[in-house]
Amino acid sequence: MPDKIPYEEFSLIKLEKIHERTLFSCKDDDLTDFFKEDSLTYQEKNAAVTYICIHKEKIVGFVTIATCSVSIKLDERQEIDKGLKELSEFPGIRIARLATHADYEGRGIGEYMIKKIAKRALEISAQIGLRLIIIDSKPHVAGWYEKFGFKKLEKYKTRQNPVMYIDLLKASYI
Ligand SMILES: CC(C)(COP(=O)(O)OP(=O)(O)OC[C@H]1O[C@@H](n2cnc3c(N)ncnc32)[C@H](O)[C@@H]1OP(=O)(O)O)[C@@H](O)C(=O)NCCC(=O)NCCS
Repeated sequence: MPDKIPYEEFSLIKLEKIHERTLFSCKDDDLTDFFKEDSLTYQEKNAAVTYICIHKEKIVGFVTIATCSVSIKLDERQEIDKGLKELSEFPGIRIARLATHADYEGRGIGEYMIKKIAKRALEISAQIGLRLIIIDSKPHVAGWYEKFGFKKLEKYKTRQNPVMYIDLLKASYI
């Protein structure tokens, strides 16, 4: 495994028109295409916002987020909150897309982006109800999300892309 890059060398900034997206390539073609062709349009239409991870002036990762809500069955809620019985939908931020440049995998970029988004989400939650981070995980990436405390929601466990969440009030690394 290549060495991790120290967090201080990264920044996570909002995507703008001036950013050169054509050089980005990750190991998932659909995600590469989304980033190059659609990310800015989604942003301009307020459907999702993309943040890019910069290292030495190069785009080494991106994460696209949007608001969402998810229903969680009462018997699965113990860990979130029993005191919210009346709440049918939990508010959250959905990580709609996330990828690291193929040449930079294993350097800590994915971890940096997840933690940075979680920190920002917690800050935003002081102004607007927001409790969870949600991801429709690709099956082979679920183990990676589990490293950061993401859990599969029972209800969606059998779906091809399981829905996973972290509770912003309980993620110890935030
Ligand atoms: C998944 C992805 C974002 C991870 O990004 P990354 O920048 O390489 O991740 P990090 O460097 O932060 O983490 C690497 C660590 O996770 C581990 N890891 C990688 N994939 C894993 C998996 N499926 N399950 C468990 N651990 C995994 C690595 O072995 C490494 O471990 P280490 O920290 O002990 O060395 C990246 O592989 C990627 O862009 N894949 C293609 C796009 C994609 O599938 N995105 C997810 C959409 S749901």
